[in-house]
Amino acid sequence: MLELLRTSTFRLAIFYFGLFAFSAFAVLGLIYWQTVVYSDRQTGETIEAEITGLSEQYRNLGLNGLVQVIEERSSPERGSSMLYLLTDVNGRTISGNLTRWPDAHIDPDGWMRFRLNAPGGRLQDRHLAQATSFLLGGGYQLLVGRDLWERQEFHARITAALAWSAALTLALGLIGGVIASRSTLRRIETVNRAAAGIMAGEISRRIPVRRSGDEFDRLAGNLNAMLDRIEQLMAGMREVTDNIAHDLRSPLGRLRNRIETALLEPPSLDSYHEALQLSIVDADRLLATFASLLDIAEVEAGAPRAVIEPLDLTDLVTGLAELYEPAAEEAGLSLHQDLPTAPIIVRGNRQLLSRALANILENAIKYTPAEGSMSIGLQVEGEMARIVVADTGPGIPLESRDRVFDRFYRLEESRTTPGNGLGLSLVRAAARLHKGEVALTDTTPNASNPGLTVTLELPISGDKGAPLVSS
Ligand SMILES: Nc1ncnc2c1ncn2[C@@H]1O[C@H](COP(=O)(O)OP(=O)(O)OP(=O)(O)O)[C@@H](O)[C@H]1O
Ligand SMILES: [Mg+2]
Repeated sequence: MLELLRTSTFRLAIFYFGLFAFSAFAVLGLIYWQTVVYSDRQTGETIEAEITGLSEQYRNLGLNGLVQVIEERSSPERGSSMLYLLTDVNGRTISGNLTRWPDAHIDPDGWMRFRLNAPGGRLQDRHLAQATSFLLGGGYQLLVGRDLWERQEFHARITAALAWSAALTLALGLIGGVIASRSTLRRIETVNRAAAGIMAGEISRRIPVRRSGDEFDRLAGNLNAMLDRIEQLMAGMREVTDNIAHDLRSPLGRLRNRIETALLEPPSLDSYHEALQLSIVDADRLLATFASLLDIAEVEAGAPRAVIEPLDLTDLVTGLAELYEPAAEEAGLSLHQDLPTAPIIVRGNRQLLSRALANILENAIKYTPAEGSMSIGLQVEGEMARIVVADTGPGIPLESRDRVFDRFYRLEESRTTPGNGLGLSLVRAAARLHKGEVALTDTTPNASNPGLTVTLELPISGDKGAPLVSS
């Protein structure tokens, strides 16, 4: 219960109820005040008019006439709330429905306020009254007043109404607050429970969503999406570390075996020399793999150190095509070039783009059997520059096209060719860093030998170009 009172929902509910109660009381108070002021003014006016009327009676009809009028007006049958008292020089009562002169003091406006002690007729005791007096000729004194029981009644009713509504508002506010915060608390508790479960190791646990679409559902949805993403990243990370462990074990084992074999053989400077040299080659290969892994990680993380500058893609692609032409020829492939002469400027990192494109070309040369052909093209398509490398090799089956971008993933058929399965990972990381995309498609519709076409799209530099790397 204490916990409930401390929730922000409860505090909010109480705040609103307080605000509501305050405005309700303010309106009620204003009405009360206005009514009292109005009725007070009316009372004053009535009394004054009565005095004027009676003094006129006195002037016209004399004392007897006045007494008669007073008697008539104050008779209980009339049920009037007016009060009258006429006294002589010695203060003795002559007429009226008040038994004696009230001993109230007269305020500066000439009004007396007092309580009625023993009123007659329907007037009950201890009513509040307001009156004023008037000196007639001959020492006679006339008091005219009014019983204020109506005003008193009104006051009592308003006070009771205020008290009741205060009690009711408070009760409703408390109940509403408790109900509202209980449901909020319950929903938060489910989030807490799920979080505790996840922390305890139930990684795939999710926060239940009610499908009502409220803010809690949106929060739960977002948290679940975040958890999905984290889980996915964790799985990716685990796969990468598994792969690294797996893929680096065999070269390291080979290295170790070579050294061991050399040691077991009869000592000879030549064989030691050869074994050490081969070990250096193996170690270099391992180091290169590590370097590639680190590069990919760095590029994926946004490569804050990479220099991004405007560069001419035509120049870069032409240079690489020339560089790989001999290798293609050596592999028995004809390399067709479809390159523009005009510069195409993109913002990017020259070294990274060269390495990415080099890997695409190396793949085509490596995986396309002799007698095949490959082509390299560069075009501008809208706001994108498009580099297309196509070959007539075995291609990559549809179901593996996503996976070849994963680190260390190689098709089963490629196991015999040297490579680590890191090239395309770098290509994709580089494409993404440049706000571009890489796509794999078939070169021909020939199902048995579709070939592979790699398309690398990069945004052309322009004023509209967003900065590639936020540092
Ligand atoms: N042009 C291609 N034709 C057929 N298969 C390809 C082609 N390019 C890539 N692949 C397949 O995709 C896999 C991943 O390619 P990737 O470039 O990432 O690694 P790799 O070439 O095997 O090794 P690395 O590039 O690290 O030396 C390759 O092992 C191969 O199975
Ligand atoms: Mg490769």
